[in-house]
Amino acid sequence: MNIYLDNAATTYPKPETVINSMCNYMSNLGASPGRGSYFSALESSRLVYECRESLCDIFNFNKAENVIFTSNVTNALNILLKGFIKPGYHVITTSMEHNSVLRPLFDLKDSLNLDLDIIQCDSNGLLDIEKFKNTIKDNTKLVVMTHSSNIIGTVEPLEEVGAICKRLGIDFIVDCAQTAGITNVDFNRLNCSALAFTGHKGLLGPQGIGGFLLTDEFNKKCNSLILGGTGSLSSEPTQPDFLPDKFESGTLNTPGIVGLNAGLKFIKEVGLSSIEEKEQYLTHILLSGLLNMDKVKVYGLSNSKDRTSAISVNFTNMDSSEVSFMLDSTYGIMTRTGLHCAPLAHKTIGTYPIGTLRFSVGYFNDEKDIYYTLDSLNKIIK
Ligand SMILES: Cc1ncc(COP(=O)(O)O)c(C=O)c1O
Repeated sequence: MNIYLDNAATTYPKPETVINSMCNYMSNLGASPGRGSYFSALESSRLVYECRESLCDIFNFNKAENVIFTSNVTNALNILLKGFIKPGYHVITTSMEHNSVLRPLFDLKDSLNLDLDIIQCDSNGLLDIEKFKNTIKDNTKLVVMTHSSNIIGTVEPLEEVGAICKRLGIDFIVDCAQTAGITNVDFNRLNCSALAFTGHKGLLGPQGIGGFLLTDEFNKKCNSLILGGTGSLSSEPTQPDFLPDKFESGTLNTPGIVGLNAGLKFIKEVGLSSIEEKEQYLTHILLSGLLNMDKVKVYGLSNSKDRTSAISVNFTNMDSSEVSFMLDSTYGIMTRTGLHCAPLAHKTIGTYPIGTLRFSVGYFNDEKDIYYTLDSLNKIIK
């Protein structure tokens, strides 16, 4: 028996169509997009453009050329944060962020003397809007936040944050690593300046592909960090200033983009709401089962409707790493322990430095997986 419950790290398995489309591209096309005018190069460019359009579709965005590909959301966030932030800026983030937001910000705090406020969320990981409003200053230029927590799944009130940012002219970057392809992520409703995504989690693509979408206004304020060959304006010594070329130097990960596009098509065919419903249902069964176990301490909100699938637990009688090891070695159930690259989030829920054992269901799990997991866990911690 093999049960994969680490979908917050990366989703597994991937749809067959994702694998087939990548193999097909590698076997039958293979040329570099934007780098030639023979058939297979043009066809590669077309496939890349198609994926930009699919991303516009899922994120309710209307400019395919403003969809930029990177290798993952970490890379996207680094480009956005380091390309935008200047000395004298005040930036707001929260205690629930992943290190892919925190580390670039800490680095900028050191190098540019950035004025950084990290708002402490409550023990369920929720941002308090009043606290947020009170943190804004005259020189606040940017708010950067995750859409949902990668350790306890708490969905943050981003529409409220985005509306406030819009009213006050503050730019707003959203990290949708945990929500894209799982719940509705609407660029316009969130009022974001840029949305950073990763392709290998809910979007069901392969590892090594991600990116960001940005408005024209935000683009004007954001420098590109990486310069080089774009296949365009090659005689010029300077980087093109138009999108997507400004941010896409070097050969793209075309197999990854093709796979991501197949993942996006799969989501469209199944329906985002069906995916959300199924994940919420499985999360509900797992969460209720865990909440009913004597020796289990469950963190975060108890209503599965207010959260994505990441569930963090500890045990009164055993170490979580030992439990995770036994789940894997004896029962074939894969989970992740530790700090999940979000140390401040663990401080927020009171589990730093030991961390937690995290379960995260995905679309390809079923009820049997969940009942078997609860049953196996009961046997381990009895
Ligand atoms: C909220 C959040 N942000 C950022 C990341 C980093 O994702 P990637 O490793 O794909 O860059 C993750 C993944 O663990 C995440 O959950």
